[in-house]
Amino acid sequence: MAVTTRIPTALIATLRGAQHICVLTGAGISAESGVPTFRDAQSGLWEKYDPLDLATPEAFLRDPKLIWRWYRWRRELVAKAQPNPAHQALATFATLVPRLTLVTQNVDGLHQRAGSTDVIEFHGNLFDDRCFAEDRIVDCTADADVPICPGCGSNVRPGVVWFGEAIPEQALDRSFAAAADCDVFLSIGTSSLVFPAAGLAEVANEAGAVVIEVNPNPTGMSAGFDYAIAGNAGSVLPELIDSLTD
Ligand code: APR
Repeated sequence: MAVTTRIPTALIATLRGAQHICVLTGAGISAESGVPTFRDAQSGLWEKYDPLDLATPEAFLRDPKLIWRWYRWRRELVAKAQPNPAHQALATFATLVPRLTLVTQNVDGLHQRAGSTDVIEFHGNLFDDRCFAEDRIVDCTADADVPICPGCGSNVRPGVVWFGEAIPEQALDRSFAAAADCDVFLSIGTSSLVFPAAGLAEVANEAGAVVIEVNPNPTGMSAGFDYAIAGNAGSVLPELIDSLTD
């Protein structure tokens, strides 16, 4: 594993020759948009809460009003955020290679707002509303403390995947198929702590792909990557695009 702060020339050649690039992003790619990562301390009134205690079905059943207050706070925060150069670079990247599969653990929708299409949302989307009982996306306008499903009258929950819940089947299947098929796998801005998302890099590695990590900090999986580029995504990715288009 080569730890580097620069993008090796050999890596640019590899990217140029790649037929299919699979990218996994985590909260770190949105950090430079001002969206706190999961393992950063929460700010303001939420600092006393651990996200791991709020993002669970049990927490919602226990106190749906509290969970909706937290998610409305996150929605407002994300709605004010803008895609950063890392999101924009990935949208450009997709136009420079034959095939790019973008899988994100993030629920903020910033990849789509940067122009990426067909984003695989591994953990759902912050702005979707889902009926808790029927497990389907619903369109509820009421701004009640806890929105109610227009179909069955049950509580509506945010459309994100909570701890202990299954990944949406299509997202899971498409992501692992892309990891097994790609020539190059890029893991950007994730601590690689949460499975099954963190298993994508292992599948790509075992299938013979060149695996690259972009993160200012080392992770528990850095040693398994061919390249670990120690830097912020907002700087490394635009530089990667510049190198590809030189
Ligand atoms: N550029 C790249 N990486 C960054 C940057 C940056 N500017 N800033 C921080 N990072 C890195 C951190 O070093 C850390 O390794 O982003 C990573 C963020 O890690 P987490 O907060 O654990 O977020 P993530 O890996 O996306 O969490 C995975 O866990 O909490 C659940 O469902 C939640 O989707 C989330 C999943």
